[in-house]
Amino acid sequence: MAITGAARLAGIMGWPIAHSRSPALHGFWLHEHGIDGAYVPLAVAPDRLEQALRALPALGFRGCNITIPHKRAALRIMDRVDPFAQRIGAMNTVIVAPDGGLEGSNTDVFGFRENLREQAPGWRASCGPAVVLGAGGAARSVVAALSTAGVAEIRLVNRTRDRAEALARDLAAPETRITVHPWEQRNEVLAAAGLLANTTSLGMENEPPLEINLAPLPETAVVVDIVYVPLETGLLAAARRRGNPVVDGLGMLLHQGRPGFAAWFGAEPQVTPALRRAMLATFAGAH
Ligand SMILES: NC(=O)c1ccc[n+]([C@@H]2O[C@H](COP(=O)([O-])OP(=O)(O)OC[C@H]3O[C@@H](n4cnc5c(N)ncnc54)[C@H](OP(=O)(O)O)[C@@H]3O)[C@@H](O)[C@H]2O)c1
Repeated sequence: MAITGAARLAGIMGWPIAHSRSPALHGFWLHEHGIDGAYVPLAVAPDRLEQALRALPALGFRGCNITIPHKRAALRIMDRVDPFAQRIGAMNTVIVAPDGGLEGSNTDVFGFRENLREQAPGWRASCGPAVVLGAGGAARSVVAALSTAGVAEIRLVNRTRDRAEALARDLAAPETRITVHPWEQRNEVLAAAGLLANTTSLGMENEPPLEINLAPLPETAVVVDIVYVPLETGLLAAARRRGNPVVDGLGMLLHQGRPGFAAWFGAEPQVTPALRRAMLATFAGAH
């Protein structure tokens, strides 16, 4: 759709940024809603992040998404940060307030939760302990999402123990017990679990496979992989074969974009089969 001189502006800041699927995602919604607006890639080097963020109000931008490597650094540049993003230690959405102030929040938590709700509607926090593989940036959002959903026990398994312990410390909450387990115990900790989430990069295209034996996992447990290239990872295929309900990672990516789009462009976007198809086509085109 052609834009006019009055177009609303938003974008995504990262370094590099050429690989980002967010312009395609927001572009789909802008077209679908017939909005006079543009969502553009903003390649911003780490040493110019503050300058670039501070320029948003001056340029008339309504805000932007923040991606690798700026998700942590952007926090201290904001005028106001959602307490939740502060606790997670990472943000991905900036909204320029009417007074020109920069407001930071984290919508990956929302994205994970909405995707789980949509693809595994039968899952409840009371289904049992959750096992989370990985303790990187994405794991923080996943643990926060499970904790706020009311999961009483989260078993955190990571190759680097210190990283898992720091995560467990930062996200400690009275309602959730987070226990840390060595990577070598990733099979045993599956016993009696109600959910398994892979947040490592294992299983992603051009990365090593995730080696795990699902035998101890109850067949009713929901298996989530937040890796979305390929869409059907080895983990999801193995889980599907033994009858576990599975949740792929594409929905998390799509749902995390909704709150920002609504704030910048004034319409409530939906995650539909047509959107999923359009996004999958962008992956196919990239290879
Ligand atoms: N669906 C979505 O919307 C969404 C959103 C964000 C991220 N993701 C995906 O999630 C994945 C992780 O992203 P991230 O930002 O959290 O990355 P990250 O901060 O770099 O964390 C990577 C994680 O993978 C683990 N890992 C890497 N190689 C490993 C290996 N050989 N053996 C065991 N563990 C290994 C790391 O363990 P150590 O701590 O030991 O290094 C760490 O826990 C990526 O595939 C990304 O595309 C998806």
